[in-house]
Amino acid sequence: MTWHVAIKKSKMKPGKKKMLTVAKKLVLLGQMGEEFFATEALCRHMRWPLAYGAKVKDDCIRCPLHQTTHRIDTGEMVEWSPFPLFPPYGKLVGKLSKQKDLKIYQTRVNNGNIEVKIE
Ligand code: FES
Repeated sequence: MTWHVAIKKSKMKPGKKKMLTVAKKLVLLGQMGEEFFATEALCRHMRWPLAYGAKVKDDCIRCPLHQTTHRIDTGEMVEWSPFPLFPPYGKLVGKLSKQKDLKIYQTRVNNGNIEVKIE
């Protein structure tokens, strides 16, 4: 695992999310308060880019499409494709792919840059 520069810290601000390519991996980089987090960039359900509309709340990230939710500290799946509830389309499309955790990457600030640890 190696640290890779993702972006200058000055380009981020609280609440911001960016999709970046870091060491040939698509990564979602986000900021909550003064903390940064990084996950794989595409939803585990049907590969929606989480930088576009995902909500971060209560230490979880929720995809806007069918509202699949994962913890941003561990990547653990919390809820799989629950939306919409009626008709139960969300549950049906949820069966189109296997339930998986979201990959999480470590982040750090170094020399004014945000770095992400990637193998
Ligand atoms: S694509 Fe993200 S929940 Fe379906």
